[in-house]
Amino acid sequence: MEKFYETTAIDYVNGAPHIGHAYEKILADVIYRHFTQRCDNTFMLTGTDEHGIKIQKTAASKGITPKQMCDENSQMFKDAWKALDFDYSKFIRTTDEQHVRVVQHIFKKLMEQGDIYKNKYTGLYCSGCEAFLSEKDLTEDGLCPDHLKKPEVVSEENYFFKLTKYKEAIANHINTHPDFIVPAFRKNEVLHQLENIEDISVSRAKSNVSWSIDVLDDPDQGIYVWIDALSNYITAIGYDVDEQTDQFKQLWPVNLHVIGKDILKFHSIYWTGILMALGLPLPQQILAHGWITIDETKMSKSLGNVISPTTLLEHFHLDKPDAMRYYMATAAPCGKDGNYSDKDFKEKVNAHLANSMGNLLNRTLSMLVKYFDGDVKPEFKIDSPLKNKAIETVKDVMHHFDYYEVQEAAQKIMLLVDEANKYVTDSEPWALAKNGEMDKCGQVLTTVLDVMCVISSLIYPYCPNIAQDMAKQLSYDLKSTKLQDIKSDNIKVGHLIDKADIHPVFLRIDSELADKSKKK
Ligand code: MSP
Repeated sequence: MEKFYETTAIDYVNGAPHIGHAYEKILADVIYRHFTQRCDNTFMLTGTDEHGIKIQKTAASKGITPKQMCDENSQMFKDAWKALDFDYSKFIRTTDEQHVRVVQHIFKKLMEQGDIYKNKYTGLYCSGCEAFLSEKDLTEDGLCPDHLKKPEVVSEENYFFKLTKYKEAIANHINTHPDFIVPAFRKNEVLHQLENIEDISVSRAKSNVSWSIDVLDDPDQGIYVWIDALSNYITAIGYDVDEQTDQFKQLWPVNLHVIGKDILKFHSIYWTGILMALGLPLPQQILAHGWITIDETKMSKSLGNVISPTTLLEHFHLDKPDAMRYYMATAAPCGKDGNYSDKDFKEKVNAHLANSMGNLLNRTLSMLVKYFDGDVKPEFKIDSPLKNKAIETVKDVMHHFDYYEVQEAAQKIMLLVDEANKYVTDSEPWALAKNGEMDKCGQVLTTVLDVMCVISSLIYPYCPNIAQDMAKQLSYDLKSTKLQDIKSDNIKVGHLIDKADIHPVFLRIDSELADKSKKK
């Protein structure tokens, strides 16, 4: 793999980030970090989507300007992503000067080549979707199915993008590229939506939506959300209509757009059409993830069950986000919906991260100190069945990530942890030491520690802090070990660790120790 360019959806800034936004960013970051372990040239883009009627109305209701609200709320998203250790390369805001300028030129180019035209239009507008809906899209009661709100009847003269011109080419691309839409079960849904597609409105009258990018040479019209928002994926890396930067040439086409299932139509149909009109190569893949519910209930302001990711970290007194990252990234099979519950969160991270994985490292290192003063001797050979299992797991995990099966990959890692625990239980190194079978005992401990190095590499995308702490206690060079190069013999012969340097990598939530460290 020569390069890996990945993007997330850019979030609307009319409110604070919630756990649904966080789910996407965590999932995307886990995928991204995994590919940084396979490839040197990687780039991750995220950001905020700042124009449109929703933002204009929310700012007005607060008595502040839209720009003021965007500045404040965009910062909240940045702060949340920092707290979650989201390792993005660039954060784009659609109010960035460069983005605004290039979007205006994209629009002008499409107008000049006849792909955008003006037309009088009466339609049903849902401000939640920032989109016109057709009668067919609505529920039986005439509501938007996603926002359960009645759309407004809007009659305006707008610019339209000739999406119908590209309909056949889009269908052809989807049909000939079976990996384009992930998971594959969403493909037919998209093809069905495409059958009913019409030209799309791409501007709104400034008199109705003032918080938008001006159409060049037509100050009464503002560029309406999707051409503005979707173009972020190219403007952020240096696309311009006449000239593209080296960075753009190197990174485009994007390898992966990570988005929620609710905006798949905009990405797989609208964006594909826009890129075709611009004469640009198409994205390699679009991953549409499912939605996160809270205690099996849809999150909504009216139900008061919206959870902020940073509040959650504070609630459990977690100074690192690893547990939350692990839980969220493994909350659902690829593309399916997942659920968050406090009880499930505590149980899962305590069982997997503290009991199975953390304890295994802790007790193995402690035995190495107890029986060998923390030394690894040359005669301690690595036992091959467990070693082979570890190398096999690396391959399995890479294979799952090739399909963005993040939950499934984690299950494989935990199976390896279970195997290693079983190996210790079955081999009874404490009994071997008691019987004076010291080489055998050393072999068991070294084998487990060697496999723990592999586990630290594999768990790194989910739990970067825990993984680095594990690697530190194992003197393992996690950062520069590429997954495809992982072998055994990760543990060097010689002195490995002193008693004082052994510590748990993850304290059970609600454990006495965790309580003590909180008080400290
Ligand atoms: N601004 C548009 C995206 C433009 S991308 C060029 C938008 N913003 S959003 O703030 O409404 O949503 C941002 C992302 O968060 C979307 O991918 C959406 O699917 C995701 N999620 C919002 N709520 C979610 C859950 N409850 N669960 C999982 N993801 C959710 O759409």
